[in-house]
Amino acid sequence: MVYVTRREVFSASHRLYNDTLTAEENISLYDKCANSYGHGHNFILEVVVCGEIEQKSGYVIDLKILKKIIQDIIIKKVDHHHFNYDVDFMKDIIPTAENICIAFWKELYHKIPVGKLYSVKLFETENNYVEYRGE
Ligand code: NI
Repeated sequence: MVYVTRREVFSASHRLYNDTLTAEENISLYDKCANSYGHGHNFILEVVVCGEIEQKSGYVIDLKILKKIIQDIIIKKVDHHHFNYDVDFMKDIIPTAENICIAFWKELYHKIPVGKLYSVKLFETENNYVEYRGE
C-alpha cells in the first residue's frame, strides 16, 4: 500500500458561533472567534489517497487528476469565501477546523476514481491542524 499526498492552499473566513447559545455564551466559548464578521486564515489542505501501484503507469493515482478533483470540489468553493455564508456543503455547520475537515472528507470520498481516500488534514495556523480518516 502506498500513500500519495496532494497539498493545496486557500484563503477563507469563518466565524465560530453557535446559534442555539446566547451571545455571552458564544463569547465565553469562542472568544474573539465569535466576533461578528469572522476572520480569515490561510489554510493548508492535505489529501492522502492510498492504494496499490498500477503497473502500466507506476502511479497509485495521477496527481494531476487528484489536483483537479480537489480544485473542483473544494478549492473553487472555499478560496476567498466565507465558510458561514458562501459554502453550500457547510450550511448549518459550525465551521471549526474539525467540522470543515469532516465536510471536505464527505465531499471527496466518493469522487476519488482510483485507490481510496485515506486522510484529510487541515492546517488552520502554523501550529494547529486537524486530521480526519473517516473513523
Ligand atoms: Ni479561525
